[in-house]
Amino acid sequence: MPLAQIIGTGSYAPAQVITNRDLEKIVNTSDAWITERTGIKERRKAAPGETTSDMAAAAAREALAMAGTRPEELDLIVVGTITADMPMPSCAVLVQAKLGAKRAFAFDVAAACAGSVYALSVADQFIRTGQAKRALVIGADLFTGVLNWKDRNTCVLFGDGAGAMVLAPSEEEGRGILSTHLRTDGTLAEILTIPAGGSREPLTEENLREQRHKVVMNGREVFKCAVRELTSVTREALRVHGFTPAQVDHVIVHQANMRILEAVLQRIEIPIEKCWINLDKYGNTSAASVPIALDEANRAGKLKRGDVVAMMAVGAGMAWGSAMVRW
Ligand code: ACO
Repeated sequence: MPLAQIIGTGSYAPAQVITNRDLEKIVNTSDAWITERTGIKERRKAAPGETTSDMAAAAAREALAMAGTRPEELDLIVVGTITADMPMPSCAVLVQAKLGAKRAFAFDVAAACAGSVYALSVADQFIRTGQAKRALVIGADLFTGVLNWKDRNTCVLFGDGAGAMVLAPSEEEGRGILSTHLRTDGTLAEILTIPAGGSREPLTEENLREQRHKVVMNGREVFKCAVRELTSVTREALRVHGFTPAQVDHVIVHQANMRILEAVLQRIEIPIEKCWINLDKYGNTSAASVPIALDEANRAGKLKRGDVVAMMAVGAGMAWGSAMVRW
């Protein structure tokens, strides 16, 4: 069975920039605090009326163009998102309609910031088994819409965006997605949630007033989990392939926080120079983070044929995963 190969990448970030200085006017924070604790300098915010599927479709068009693939050729669209345009139907079906990808079946995967790696893994299975010849994988989140702009613990961290990848069966042996590893620990569900708006706590005037339909986070616990599990899942992938850290050419990791990246890279003994970093520009774009970073690295000409690319992400769930790719 041929491996699945990433034959096109694309990304989209809304035009409006919100700097740390802008946030100083909204909450009791400072550019110095945000920069020192996170590495984030600015993030993007969707325009009024702009939706997650708009951003997803924009990123997808770029990826399809690079792949030389027409929307009608797609068999499958998987969107990693937790901020779909509406609770029903999925974001993916709206993307399908916007692209005119008539033949593709489409669905969302909800794994928060790990969404794109989860979606990539799902699409990888369809390509490997021959059930799909062309798959579109998207990570897209409009996270500024689910932030409590009075909560300085969370509102400084996130931004909006989308990234996309087109997959096809590899024509070269050993080239493509070598493996994916997905892991979940649902006992940690409560450390990062949007408490209200689901079946457990339907929306009421009271919980809307209390902003319980917005993100609530235990930052320290998320931090510890992120460092621990990004490290473990990367070590696992390296072990499976018998790769030494030196054999990894590029790291494309979820852009949550510079201190998380540094701690993980140090533990897995890969120099930080191998890691594409853009969180200073975009903040944490949730499911979009990994495919945006991949697209930027790709368009910058960093990823050479045959290079080993280690991709990994972690998010609410807690859910995390890796994808090891021979470019
Ligand atoms: N500006 C100024 N002060 C702040 C801010 C802010 N924006 N946010 C929190 N503080 C304050 C806190 O209230 C606290 O004050 P106190 O001591 O008076 O109570 C103080 O700063 C220190 O807070 P800590 O929580 O100890 O700060 P920490 O060094 O842990 O950094 C942070 C906080 C940046 C949130 C960190 O815990 C973190 O990055 N966690 C990971 C969170 C994350 O990345 N989430 C993304 C979603 S999941 C994912 O993508 C992996």
